[in-house]
Amino acid sequence: MTIHLPKVLDIQNKTVIVRVDFNVPLKKKAQGDSFDYVVADDQRIRSALETIFFLKEHNCKIILISHLGRPDGQVIKEFSLEPVAFYLKQNLGLEVEFAHDCIGAEVVEKAAALQKGEILLLENLRFHPEEEANDTAFASKMIKDTNAEVFINEAFSASHRAHASVVGLAKLLPSFAGFDLVAETKILGRILDKARHPFVVVLGGAKIDDKVSTVQNLSKLADLVLVGGGIANAFLKASNIEVHKSFMGKKAEENVKIAKAILDEHQTERTMINIAETGKSLPLPKITLPVDVLAAKNKDVNDEKEVIHLELLKNVKDSEHDLDLQYLDIGKKTINLYKYLLSQAKTIFFNGPVGVFENPLFAKGSREIAKSIASSTTESGTITVCGGGETNAVINACGLRDRFTHVSTAGGAALEFLGGEKLPGIAVLEK
Ligand code: 3PG
Repeated sequence: MTIHLPKVLDIQNKTVIVRVDFNVPLKKKAQGDSFDYVVADDQRIRSALETIFFLKEHNCKIILISHLGRPDGQVIKEFSLEPVAFYLKQNLGLEVEFAHDCIGAEVVEKAAALQKGEILLLENLRFHPEEEANDTAFASKMIKDTNAEVFINEAFSASHRAHASVVGLAKLLPSFAGFDLVAETKILGRILDKARHPFVVVLGGAKIDDKVSTVQNLSKLADLVLVGGGIANAFLKASNIEVHKSFMGKKAEENVKIAKAILDEHQTERTMINIAETGKSLPLPKITLPVDVLAAKNKDVNDEKEVIHLELLKNVKDSEHDLDLQYLDIGKKTINLYKYLLSQAKTIFFNGPVGVFENPLFAKGSREIAKSIASSTTESGTITVCGGGETNAVINACGLRDRFTHVSTAGGAALEFLGGEKLPGIAVLEK
């Protein structure tokens, strides 16, 4: 079964509700700006523009809906989408009305006043707990209050969430896929079907609770999974390697258990990697962990003297160092090892920084990995794909955006998709 783009007849002159993923990084406002927060990276906004312009061109009334962050059903100002509405007007020249809720009187009034070709952006869906609970009454109310007649999912990066705005609306209205969603599924689908080997995944980032289990499916597809960032801590701990007070997610204990089960299953599996100029091959564990790290008492330290380089040894209790230490970047030996392995790859997927990239003291690992992947695209014709908000921030900061085969808007969704899982937001469109 396939997903379908809307044809002109499906949407012309109609009110169309579009699930976008405007979960974009925001930064605190500079002096004189009208909002507390401003958009720091607009890739996800730009990726929805083709669909928005298609609807404008065909006289639709356009209702945009999105989440931002994880406010857990509470109204929290720092997660408001109002700065995004401002950005759409100021930076992209779109006429956009904003409603301070996604259901209720203001929505009814502003949706009724909407003229053909105009856009109304609704406030963060996740201010209502019903969104994540995939509550049908909540989805129906959104339809009623906005007069929506057609639904489009243009949020590939949120399609792994079975939420009301992703799945619920699609069940209640004639539903289609947006242009970017279709493009993402085609490009990532090609990797699934035709990845050239060795296929190496670099998996890092801080969303450990979401990502630990994806290693299982990825290791079926990839020849090597190079683990870094917060997620590495769960795997290190599961391998009896000291991690001190390193961050291991909200569900630390469960994450270590999952990591241990995955490592146990792949214990004997080895990937042969050629060693340049020796004619020999080296057997490497499929799930490869850092061999050294940079550590400090907290991620915000700003003096190099507070950063320690540690070699990671199995079954050794490190009593010499401060027990409050956190692992915040991969060390130089790991950087060299990972870079070498990446240079041997024919397909690479990069998801999640391998250190606390926001702090320049812990950005080196992520930068070096990003640069090494980017050079493989041009120098060896490797298929290189990266995805996720944090990863995109790394490649943007390094000026490497144009040097990947594909830059996906998606983090978790791309991981699940490549892991062979059916994303609920896509499955519901296959009808
Ligand atoms: C993302 O940033 O990966 C998507 O916007 C989904 O966000 P979530 O992980 O908070 O559901």
